[in-house]
Amino acid sequence: MRRKAGWRQRPVRTIGIKLCAIACTIDHFCFVKDEKIPKSVLRIGIPMLVHYVTDEPTKIPAIRAMLEPQHKVESLLLGAIDKQAISSGVLMVDADLRRSAPVEQIKRVLRDLHSVSEKLFVVQSHLNHMVAQAYALGATSVVSRPKEILSKLEQIEIAQKSAQAGTVDAPPKNANSAVAFASMFSAVRSGKPFKLSDAENATSDIINGIEKNGLSVWLDDVRRYHEGTFQHCLLVTGVAVGFALDLKFPDADVKQLGLAATLHDIGKARIPLSILDKPGRLDPSEQEIMMRHPVIGYELLQAIPDITPAILDGVRHHHEYLDGSGYPDALTAPEISDLVRLLTISDIFAALIESRPYRPAMSRQDAYKILRTMDGKLERSLVKAFRRPALSA
Ligand SMILES: [Fe+2]
Ligand SMILES: [Fe+2]
Repeated sequence: MRRKAGWRQRPVRTIGIKLCAIACTIDHFCFVKDEKIPKSVLRIGIPMLVHYVTDEPTKIPAIRAMLEPQHKVESLLLGAIDKQAISSGVLMVDADLRRSAPVEQIKRVLRDLHSVSEKLFVVQSHLNHMVAQAYALGATSVVSRPKEILSKLEQIEIAQKSAQAGTVDAPPKNANSAVAFASMFSAVRSGKPFKLSDAENATSDIINGIEKNGLSVWLDDVRRYHEGTFQHCLLVTGVAVGFALDLKFPDADVKQLGLAATLHDIGKARIPLSILDKPGRLDPSEQEIMMRHPVIGYELLQAIPDITPAILDGVRHHHEYLDGSGYPDALTAPEISDLVRLLTISDIFAALIESRPYRPAMSRQDAYKILRTMDGKLERSLVKAFRRPALSA
C-alpha cells in the first residue's frame, strides 16, 4: 500500500475532558504480576565486573554481600577516584543525587568512563524525582530495590555474554536518540525550552537505524538498554517508523509520523514522577492527572516555531478512539486523522511490549492479538496492515 505524501486531515472539535476507563489504561497498562528474578543463566567463565561507585563507604560491604560471588565487585569511592581506564563490565552508581558535590563527581567519573556502555543508577524508591536526574547524568537503567538490581545485572550479563559469543551486536544503536530523549524530557521538566531540531535529529537517527537494521533489532536494543518513559517514547517512535516504512510511505510522511511519535508523550515531562513511575495501578485521581498529558504536550509545543498542525494533532489526539471513547476531546472517526490513527496503534503496541520492573514484557504476538480485539476503536484495515511490521519486520 503506498499513500500520497500529506496527511488526510479531518476537522477537530473540542468538547472538553471526558474520563473514560478504557482509554486511560493505555499509558499505564498494569499487568502487575508476582515479581520473579529471572532464572539463573548458565555461568561460564569469569563473573561480570561491577564497578560500584558510591559516596558512602559503609554501603560497600552490603553490596559485596549481595552481589558476590555471582559478580566481581570493584568499589570506587567518589572523590577518591583516580582516572580509571575501565571499559568492561557495568558501572553501578549509588550516591545522593540531591547534593551537588556527588553529582559533579559523578559527571567527572562518567566522563572518564565513557566507554562503559552500561550505567546502572540506584535511586531509592521514595525519591522518584531523582530518576530524571539519573537519566540526565547518563544512566542506561535506574533501579531501586535489591531484587531489581539483581535482575537487571543478570539481564546485562546475559546480553554481554551473548555479545561476546557473537550472537548479538553489543553496542546500543539507539544511544544518541536516547540521550536526545533524556535531555528533551529533563529540559521540559525543569521549565527550560528544548529545540525542535533535537527531536528531529533523534527521529532521523531512529529512521536511519531501522532502515539499516530492521525494526526487530532496534526494538530489542531499546528494551535491553532503556527503561521507563524514555523506553516508551523510543519504542513508539521505532514502531511508528517501522509501520510507515513497511507501508512504503514517502520520506516526508515517515519523518512526520516519526516526529509526532517522538513528541507524543512530551506532556508527561510535567506529570509528577510519583505518578509517572508508580509501580502499580493508578488510583482515579492519579489517572485523571495522567490523562492531562496530551493537552499539556499540545500546549507546550504550540509555542514552538515551525511545529506543524499535524504534529500538534498527533500529540493532542493519540489517545482518541474511532468510537468516541478516547480523550481528551472524545473525537469520533470522521475527526481523527490518518496520522493519529497510525500513532495510536503504535502507542498501544509499544506500551504492551515494553518491559517494566514490575511486569515482564508482553510478546509481540500477544500484543498484536490485543490490538485485534480493539475493533471499533482502531481502524481495522490499519491494524491488519500492521500485522507484518508488528510480527516480523
Ligand atoms: Fe500518551
Ligand atoms: Fe504513549
